[in-house]
Amino acid sequence: MAEGGRGSQGEAAASESERTLIVLKPDAVSRGLIGEVISRFERKGFRVLELRLIRLQRNQAEDFYSPHRGKDFFEDLISFITSGPIVAAVLEGRNAVEAVRTMIGSTDAAKAPPGTIRGDLGLGLTANVIHASDSHESFEREVEVLFPGFLTKERSAASSADGPRELRGKA
Ligand code: CMP
Repeated sequence: MAEGGRGSQGEAAASESERTLIVLKPDAVSRGLIGEVISRFERKGFRVLELRLIRLQRNQAEDFYSPHRGKDFFEDLISFITSGPIVAAVLEGRNAVEAVRTMIGSTDAAKAPPGTIRGDLGLGLTANVIHASDSHESFEREVEVLFPGFLTKERSAASSADGPRELRGKA
């Protein structure tokens, strides 16, 4: 294969491939929007690495939203995110953090442009359908709240893939 000649699958595996985390909020789950939202990311080309339906405990919600602690909307946000089941997922693909944020649209769903997930599916500010990590650092913090051990598992998989060829794939 010519240098740089990757197929479209190979592109996602290139070094610029990135992970991000999304949370479908209780409004999305109760309104039956799980399939619609996940399907948009799949159609765009993202790979779903982890997917989980959970109900957050208050302490988990406070950890997850810790950067917002002390803001006037913090209590409403914690009450809302713990009010019913959520769906959390880890997505992988090229430029995932920024591309997913573009797809979800602005925080206030009433002002989010048509074509974005919030713009097409919501009207709320607290109940705004979906959350997505806003940076790689946020992803690393958030993923450990919702998928404890994810980063350790990834790092040990990466280091064994880099190990001696004769050890690869052996138990
Ligand atoms: P999210 O992307 O989950 O990140 C923090 C959440 O706080 C945000 O989406 C909104 O749902 C919620 N929120 C409520 N009020 C505000 C506000 N005034 N500004 C920003 N976020 C808010």
